[in-house]
Amino acid sequence: MIRKIPLLIVGLLAFMLSAAATFLYIAPNHSQLPRQQVVSGKALIGGPFTLINHKGETVTDKSFRGQYMLVYFGYTFCPDVCPAELAVITDALEMLGEKAARVTPVFITVDPERDTVEQVAEYVSNFHPRMVGLTGSPDQIKAAAKAYRVYYRKAKDASSSAAYMMDHSSIIFLMGPDGQYLSHFAYGTKPETMAAKLAQLIR
Ligand code: NI
Repeated sequence: MIRKIPLLIVGLLAFMLSAAATFLYIAPNHSQLPRQQVVSGKALIGGPFTLINHKGETVTDKSFRGQYMLVYFGYTFCPDVCPAELAVITDALEMLGEKAARVTPVFITVDPERDTVEQVAEYVSNFHPRMVGLTGSPDQIKAAAKAYRVYYRKAKDASSSAAYMMDHSSIIFLMGPDGQYLSHFAYGTKPETMAAKLAQLIR
């Protein structure tokens, strides 16, 4: 009996460590921590932006009024998390049914250097048919990311400057038809969970 106790403790510790690891680990270069803690209610997330859509048209935050927006910042060369998250958005909207028509999924690049209008157009065509891809000048992207409190930076790459990764926040924001922040989804949210939450929040 006494001999079993240390084993039990070791087992418990191992379990706790693995749970912590799962919680903390997302993927290299992705963080689910916003620059400042997301708070509930009228959070100071979102705001004016002027960007260029994947058709080459200039759009602003006001272009989306009347529609809910699911906003995700990422970049098209992202090997893992970004495509996974955009696939989750796509699947969730497919599960949502009729209310999905009220939601515009929006992908905003944090890598305007490589993500041209053409590159973004090609990329969003892999996901939801109504997904809007946005790029812009480095300053326009900086302003949009600041409005959403999204962190991004070019990752230090020892090998060369030709290929690089971007460190960036990985959070999906739900914005209301008035452009106000409603909710957000952390990395790893399942499409069915997102669809259920959207069904509640969309009126
Ligand atoms: Ni990414």
